[in-house]
Amino acid sequence: MTPIVALHDPAAPVDRLGRSMHDLRISVMDRCNFRCPYCMPRETFGEGYRFLGATERLSFVEIARLAGLFVDLGVRKLRLTGGEPLLRAGLAELVGDLAALPDVEDVALTTNGVLLAAHAAELKAQGLGRVTVSLDSLDTDVFRRMSGGHGSPADVLAGIEAALAAELAPVKVNCVVQRGVNDHNVLDLVERFRGTPVVVRFIEYMDVGNRNHWDASLVVPSRELKERVGTRWPLRPVAAGYRGEVAERYAFADGAGEIGFISSVSQPFCGACSRARLSSDGVLYTCLFATHGLDLRMPLRAGVDDATLRELIRAAWLGRGDRYSEVRAELRAHKPEHKIEMYYIGG
Ligand SMILES: C[S@@+](CC[C@H](N)C(=O)[O-])C[C@H]1O[C@@H](n2cnc3c(N)ncnc32)[C@H](O)[C@@H]1O
Ligand code: SF4
Repeated sequence: MTPIVALHDPAAPVDRLGRSMHDLRISVMDRCNFRCPYCMPRETFGEGYRFLGATERLSFVEIARLAGLFVDLGVRKLRLTGGEPLLRAGLAELVGDLAALPDVEDVALTTNGVLLAAHAAELKAQGLGRVTVSLDSLDTDVFRRMSGGHGSPADVLAGIEAALAAELAPVKVNCVVQRGVNDHNVLDLVERFRGTPVVVRFIEYMDVGNRNHWDASLVVPSRELKERVGTRWPLRPVAAGYRGEVAERYAFADGAGEIGFISSVSQPFCGACSRARLSSDGVLYTCLFATHGLDLRMPLRAGVDDATLRELIRAAWLGRGDRYSEVRAELRAHKPEHKIEMYYIGG
């Protein structure tokens, strides 16, 4: 009988700050059916904006091949995101390919939820483990202000119900909080999901990209939200589920479930960051705030073999020293008026 030989190099790369690569976020679609002003403001991503053409995006075969190489290098969790990933036709097929990769422990999806009701069951059947649904407010007017006028809370709630019915557990809800926009709706959101298996996580509004007119006065620090929620429903801290978990977890003291806070602005957390990101056109980014990445699509389409591609990825991770979130926070603290430009931290 032929012995089983490990085809991959077992030595997973560790970056310059001692962090290994454990998660891969795969953007499968650059387009979105929302225009959240904090992410894809309509004035930039309007009619004339040039999104990728279908052939510029990685195919499912290409994504699965690259994902397999990341898994060889230590990745165990895969998350499909975008843009809006459910705009990518046949997404469940890709989920099936990814879930079938040996050593993958978790395939997850982040979605704005409007198309989720139609797809939850087939995604689960193909091996999707869990889903995170973005929902900024239960109030229709506030919701539409934050989605750029698209969708409704009812659509998203239907998606969440479908995810629960399909046992895509745990279902998490992400809410980006902006002062004066939706922060008055925070308790309603908590109340709606208290006592259900859904875990609501509040995210501080981040200065990601250069296009969302980020302003520090719009950020509601998690500490303030925690106090507001805790005053109404006492909370007790819950230990992190794993090293590098981004959300700070709290349980309701009365046993009605859990909530989380993601404090990327007030408490940036680069120290244990194990996430790599693959854009829909095949560029590897080693940080959410990075401006430069490594084009993997070019060598992939030029026909290079797996070993060469794997070495390119490994080298990129070995050279990684990114801690942009922390650097930006330090600069803001010392020079609050200083507008940090991407060329500066990315150069
Ligand atoms: C970019 S979206 C992609 C997936 C999907 N379209 C969605 O909205 O869930 C992923 C997450 O990033 C969050 N996000 C986008 N821009 C942000 C910002 N400026 N600050 C904080 N979170 C942001 C969204 O709210 C969402 O939860
Ligand atoms: S946050 Fe998600 S739903 Fe909103 S514009 Fe960005 S990608 Fe689209």
